[in-house]
Amino acid sequence: MSEIQIYGQFPLKGEISIQGAKNAVLPMMAAALLHRGVTVLMNVPVIRDVSCMADILEYLGCRLERQGGCLAIDASHIENTAVPDHFVSAMRSSIVVLGALLGRMGEGSGCYPGGCLIGARPIDLHIKVLEGLGAEIREEEGHLFVCRGSEGIRGAELHLPYPSVGATEQAILASVLSRDVTVVHGAAREPEIVQLCDFLNNMGAVICGMGTEHLMIQGVDGLHDSSFRVEGDRIVAGTYAAAAAAVGGDVLMKGIKPSFLHEPLRLLERAGARIRTEENAGRIQVSMDRIPCCLDICTGPYPEFPTDLQSPFMALLAAAQGISHIEERVFEERFATAEALCAMGARIRISGRRAEVEGVRPLRGASVKAADLRGGAALVAAGLAACGETRISRCGYIERGYEDICRDLSALGAQIRWIKEDGT
Ligand code: UD1
Repeated sequence: MSEIQIYGQFPLKGEISIQGAKNAVLPMMAAALLHRGVTVLMNVPVIRDVSCMADILEYLGCRLERQGGCLAIDASHIENTAVPDHFVSAMRSSIVVLGALLGRMGEGSGCYPGGCLIGARPIDLHIKVLEGLGAEIREEEGHLFVCRGSEGIRGAELHLPYPSVGATEQAILASVLSRDVTVVHGAAREPEIVQLCDFLNNMGAVICGMGTEHLMIQGVDGLHDSSFRVEGDRIVAGTYAAAAAAVGGDVLMKGIKPSFLHEPLRLLERAGARIRTEENAGRIQVSMDRIPCCLDICTGPYPEFPTDLQSPFMALLAAAQGISHIEERVFEERFATAEALCAMGARIRISGRRAEVEGVRPLRGASVKAADLRGGAALVAAGLAACGETRISRCGYIERGYEDICRDLSALGAQIRWIKEDGT
C-alpha cells in the first residue's frame, strides 16, 4: 500500500486546474447506457471510481475508448443486465446503473451498494422511486432484482421525503425512456443533478425544472449520439481551498464555477480568507495571510454546506484559532477522521452528530490512516498545516476521487509526495 509523505507549513502559492467532477461523471456514464449508440464525455477525471464505472459498463457490453480526458462510450449492444457484486460493493454510485438498465433493458440486478462507510446509507428511497415508476423489485440474499411491471415503466408523480441525490438520479435514469410524464417532487438540487439533466437533454431527453425541487421528465422514444463536457469538481476545489486557508498562501483555481461553492466560500471568508471569484471564467482565488478563525458549520443538501467537505473543513478548524462547531446532518457517522486529526494534536470532542473542534497551532505531523475518501484528503490538508512530517496510509481511498492530490499540491509549492510500496 502506498503512503503520502508531507512536510508541512509551506504556504500554497500558484494556480491549478480543477479536474472534472466525480459525482457528475459517474451518473452520466450510467446514463450513457440509455442510448443505443455513442456518447462522448470530456473533462473526465482519471480516478479509481471512473475506472470502476468503466469496468461495469464494459462488463454489461459497452465498448469504451479513452484518450486523455475524453471518454467515448458505445452502448449499441448490451449483453448483461446483472452487475457483478465486486463492482457494486466497491462503489455506492453504481446503484444508479439499475435505473439505467431498467430504462434501457427493462431489467437489472446487483447487490447492495458499497463505497465509503459513512453511516447507514440505506437505499429505501431508490426502491421507492423505482416502484413508483411501476418496477417490480425482488430482494434475495442481499441482491436486488428490478424489472418492468406488467404495464412497463410508466410516468408517475414521485414524492421524495428527503432530497436524496442518488434517488433523484435513479428516478431520472429510470424514467427518461418511459411512456409519459414523471414529476419528482422534493428532488435534490445539487449541481451534479443539473449537469446530469443538461447532459441527458443534450442527448435528446426532455427534462425541466433541474436545480429546483420539482423535476419534470417527459419520456422519449430514444436518444441520439452526443458529446458533453463535465464541469469542474466542487469538492476537489473546496478541499484545496480549505488546505490553502489552513496553511496560508494564495491559490488560483481554474475550471470551477464559484457558484457551486457558495456556502463553503462564504465560510472561508468568515474564517479570514480573501476570496475573489469570476463565475463566467470559472475561477476562484483564495488568499490567506492570517491564522484562520473558528466557524460554526452545519452540513445539508445543496445549497447548504456539502457533507463531502465536512472533513476537509474539520482539518482547517483543527488548525484555527478558537472553538468551532460542526453538525453533520447528512451522514451520521462521518466523523471517523477526527481520531487521526487528534493523533496530530487536534482537540476534537464528538457527541452524536456534533463535533466541537478546539483549534491547536501548530498541529504536529504524525503517521495516520485515511478512514475514507474525503477524510483522507482532510488528513492531507492537516498535514500541510502541521509542523514536521506526516505520513498517511490507506491512500487508496483518496485515489477514488482525486486524480493526483500530490501532483496538484506540489504544483502549489507543498512538500508532498507519494511513497510507493517499494519505498521510492
Ligand atoms: C451524498 C450527498 C452528495 C454527495 C454524495 C457522495 C447530500 C444530500 N448528498 O449523495 O451531495 O456528493 O453523498 O458522498 O449531501 N437516504 C435514505 N434512503 C435512501 C437514500 C438516502 O435514507 O434511499 C439518506 C442517507 O442515509 C443520507 C441522506 O439520505 O442521510 C442523503 O443521501 P443521498 O443524497 O442519497 O446520498 P448520496 O446520493 O450518496
